[in-house]
Amino acid sequence: MNSYDVEKIRKEFPILQTKRNGHPLVYLDSAATSQKPHSVIDAITHFYREEYGTVHRAVYGLASGATARYCQVREKVRAYLNAASTDEIIFTKGTTEGINLVADCFGKAFLHHGDEVLLSEIEHHANIVPWQKICKERGAQLKFIPVNAQGVLNLEAFVKLLSPRTKLVAIAHVSNAIGTVHPLEEIVHLAHGYHAKVLVDGAQSAAHVPIDVQKLDIDFFVFSGHKAYGPTGVGVLYGKKGLLETMPPYQCGGDMIEKVTLDATTYQKSPLKFEAGTPMIAEVIGLGEALDYIEKIGRDNISQWEQKLLSYATEKLLKIPHLQIIGTAHEKGPIISFVVKDIHPLDIGTLLDLKGICVRTGHQCSQPTMQRFGVTSVTRVSFGLYNTFAEIDYFVASLKEVLSVLKKN
Ligand SMILES: Cc1ncc(COP(=O)(O)O)c(C=O)c1O
Repeated sequence: MNSYDVEKIRKEFPILQTKRNGHPLVYLDSAATSQKPHSVIDAITHFYREEYGTVHRAVYGLASGATARYCQVREKVRAYLNAASTDEIIFTKGTTEGINLVADCFGKAFLHHGDEVLLSEIEHHANIVPWQKICKERGAQLKFIPVNAQGVLNLEAFVKLLSPRTKLVAIAHVSNAIGTVHPLEEIVHLAHGYHAKVLVDGAQSAAHVPIDVQKLDIDFFVFSGHKAYGPTGVGVLYGKKGLLETMPPYQCGGDMIEKVTLDATTYQKSPLKFEAGTPMIAEVIGLGEALDYIEKIGRDNISQWEQKLLSYATEKLLKIPHLQIIGTAHEKGPIISFVVKDIHPLDIGTLLDLKGICVRTGHQCSQPTMQRFGVTSVTRVSFGLYNTFAEIDYFVASLKEVLSVLKKN
């Protein structure tokens, strides 16, 4: 794509042609979940209407066709992340399930009394709570890498926290709460110096920037389909093959077994070992379409466009009196969280909705980030590949109106 044709892209998203409260929809919450292009919606409906069948289980044509398509998506995901093998690609329900799977299975295999797990202090709850639970169960300790006032990870503090006791570092690629991009190459390099493994929560990066898990030498990478223009109920866990082989299964049941007797069971190898039960077949097919859609536009093009939107919106928001952006790292994903003196984010979000604008308000599923920055709640705008400069102009003008109304009351 030579020039970024956002109007052409927008036409491919049916919901963007709709109105909310009498205004054209301005969707600024893609970090929570992204809207879906025709190709994804059509692939899912077509599959259910004409091609639906189970996978891995039957010889008839519908089932073998569904199995072939399901397996093709695994290869698409492998290529998308540049993993070495499809054995390293596990379908999950989403980022949350991916992290829970690693916490549980890696934890049971490798975490012992006195071991340590390191997280940044600004993680999503999904990358905190599973570690609290497994560390408690295994007698391991959870430690947190601080960030500075801009929201940038303190690498010196990270180096000090690392020790032979560190077994795993789990960190977001991009913070959902304040947008910071964490320096993965340095983190992986430093962690591997202590033989600690690294899990990257890619929920906020997978749809926005190219990712090469081999080049980055990441041990685990997780993301959600629904934040990448795909359906809900499907996500991906990438794990290095050697590690997956040494981890016990997550859930048990059909598909993940090799042989079952009434006394004992042997398991399949990865990825099936971690995919018990009938999987989310239609959702996986929708995810495959979504990744094709992203690749058609190109992640470099998407990233450049979204970075322009980010700079433009940041500049405009900073001109609004009493507005403070939380998270001012130099490298950010397309996410801006802000507070306005004496005005509650919920009021801002409610009044913007009346103008057709969708923004996220609240603690952003990261109460520790709010605590770190001394707030309880923020307003967050986040951009996807379909947002425009005109939408930002409309949002900023509407925000100014909303703030003047709220200040009077
Ligand atoms: C950084 C990050 N991690 C994890 C999650 C959880 O993703 P999901 O709810 O799709 O499992 C999110 C969702 O907002 C997120 O932004």
